Amino acid sequence: MANLKFTVLAGDGIGPEVMEEALRVLEKACGGHTLDYAKCDVGGAAIDSCGKALPQSTLDKCSEADAILFGSVGGPKWEHLPPNEQPERAALLPLRKIYKLFANIRPGLLYGELSAASPLKSERIPNGIDIVCIRELTGGIYFGDKSVENLPDGNVRASDTMTYRTDEIIRIADVAARTAMSRSKKLCSIDKANVLQTSVLWRKTVSEYISKNYPEIALTHLYVDNAAMQLARDPNQFDVFFTENMFGDILSDEMAVICGSLGMLCSASLGVSKNSLGFKFGLYEPAGGSAPDIAGKGVANPCAQILSAALMLRYSFGLDDVAKRIESAVRGAVCSGIRTADIAFGKAPVSTREMADAVIERL
Ligand code: IPM
Ligand code: MN
Repeated sequence: MANLKFTVLAGDGIGPEVMEEALRVLEKACGGHTLDYAKCDVGGAAIDSCGKALPQSTLDKCSEADAILFGSVGGPKWEHLPPNEQPERAALLPLRKIYKLFANIRPGLLYGELSAASPLKSERIPNGIDIVCIRELTGGIYFGDKSVENLPDGNVRASDTMTYRTDEIIRIADVAARTAMSRSKKLCSIDKANVLQTSVLWRKTVSEYISKNYPEIALTHLYVDNAAMQLARDPNQFDVFFTENMFGDILSDEMAVICGSLGMLCSASLGVSKNSLGFKFGLYEPAGGSAPDIAGKGVANPCAQILSAALMLRYSFGLDDVAKRIESAVRGAVCSGIRTADIAFGKAPVSTREMADAVIERL
């Protein structure tokens, strides 16, 4: 019986309402274990309450915990702020950097029963989609040197720098390899080695590391432009793919749209440090945003938040069995036709609360 100590950062928009449902699901699923969590402000909510998207008090609570369950941040109310003070950038990027959350795992899962939710023709994905995107999250162009300079001729010049070191490449390759080993042992590394020096190093480092340490893995490489095309053409040709930070930002959104509703997609961002239980410290969040247009109406799909909580149980608390029970309860509810509006397709849509009730009933 473990003490599950995590920090709840519900954030803005639909964040608080879907978080509430995820916490109810956890209460039901984790019987026997103690849920030991603190709720803290983040994003726009924190800007409103204390003027900063990521207050020190929130960081202190996160540092005491073994994981962070994150909702979503941002919305029109804060869009007038300078870009580096906006909730998304001022809260999420520092959290990733501070806790060294270098590995972003996004399962691209679409149940066969929900094939109609995908913009791809159903005959291309008769059994849905089941792939995994792994994105390097603390390196590359996001965190390299930046500059803006006024030139004497009146032009302005800006620059962002993309840098990778072999140890950064190896640690993400290792997460990808272990994920591939737990599935079909097929792994695709995505880069732009025909143009970028960082990609030349990425490809060489990945090839050497995987062939030496995981000889049973079938490793392939794709250029990112081709990968974007292949993903739209036949997503299931991939099983696990992994790539650097910005390529992963773009490809994971492409994967999200191909997988139908954002309301179903969860993610885990894992760090280098171990938590007090000996597992990885991580941040778990839905792939969709704060959806301000439907916030407060009780119609948002809570499944992505619930599935993110399941990932937290798996990766930060070592409770794979409980995670699987939650995942199959969500699948059971959705596939028996209980659907929020985003995935209703002709079925009468249920509310956020009713969707979660259907999951809880199946636990
Ligand atoms: C994501 C988001 C973030 C990113 C933004 C909000 C900074 O798009 O998690 O994919 O670009 O990484
Ligand atoms: Mn993104």
